[in-house]
Amino acid sequence: MESSIGVFDSGLGGVSVLREAIRVLPHERFIYYGDNRNAPYGDRTEAEITKLTLRCAHTLANQGVKAILIACNTATATCIERIRNELDVPVVSVEPAIKPACMQPGYGKILMMATRATTRLQRYLDLQARMPDPSRILNIPCPGLVERIEQGIFAENAFDDLLDTYLSAYHTMQIDGIVLGCTHYVFIRNAIRRYATMHFSGACKLFDGNEATAHQLARVLEEHNMASDAGEPGGVEFHTSGDPSRYRPIFDMLLRQPGI
Ligand code: DGL
Repeated sequence: MESSIGVFDSGLGGVSVLREAIRVLPHERFIYYGDNRNAPYGDRTEAEITKLTLRCAHTLANQGVKAILIACNTATATCIERIRNELDVPVVSVEPAIKPACMQPGYGKILMMATRATTRLQRYLDLQARMPDPSRILNIPCPGLVERIEQGIFAENAFDDLLDTYLSAYHTMQIDGIVLGCTHYVFIRNAIRRYATMHFSGACKLFDGNEATAHQLARVLEEHNMASDAGEPGGVEFHTSGDPSRYRPIFDMLLRQPGI
């Protein structure tokens, strides 16, 4: 049997990237590993995030995967170079989609919502500095959102208190775009859109890096001659460091429910 592609995230968020990867690469097999027991990563130190991420990446590599998709912005910002150095397989990773967001016309701001770690780490700050007008991007750490999502909460009106805490300072501003800089946030895009429509002026277009990352994965597989033969049926296997009876049904639901 052809070998699989390993997909990693601290928890449920990476399923939003996996969904795109399956759409772009329907004949591939995927092994997803969520470190749900240790989520959220975003409030941890760099050393902790690196240790946890490397352990998970090696767990996937030990399963004989042919490539690894890091479906976690926090892990990318913290230690993508270490992962690439330590693993023998190609590694593709997601990053906050500030580049397409900055191409959005208008004179308003771009809000980049992400974990505490992503917004302070040098790799992300370097990416921001390469944008044509870095000051247009306002970085907003949003601790608490991932905890709630990990509890299986996705309702449109279930995040207003936290969104108020982090976004009320911008209520009077024109906001051209909002970057979902954490893969978990893609699952609450309706809550964020609803909040933005109520409180900001401007287009408030939402951006995430998932589709671009899935296409990058397809390119890397092609380059390495690793793409699955079209005849093979694809599939997904879910693994978690948390309680499987609690998380498996949520993984399945997130994969299959297009509305979320
Ligand atoms: N889903 C993750 C990200 O994209 C990490 C969330 C967390 O564990 O804090 O950043």
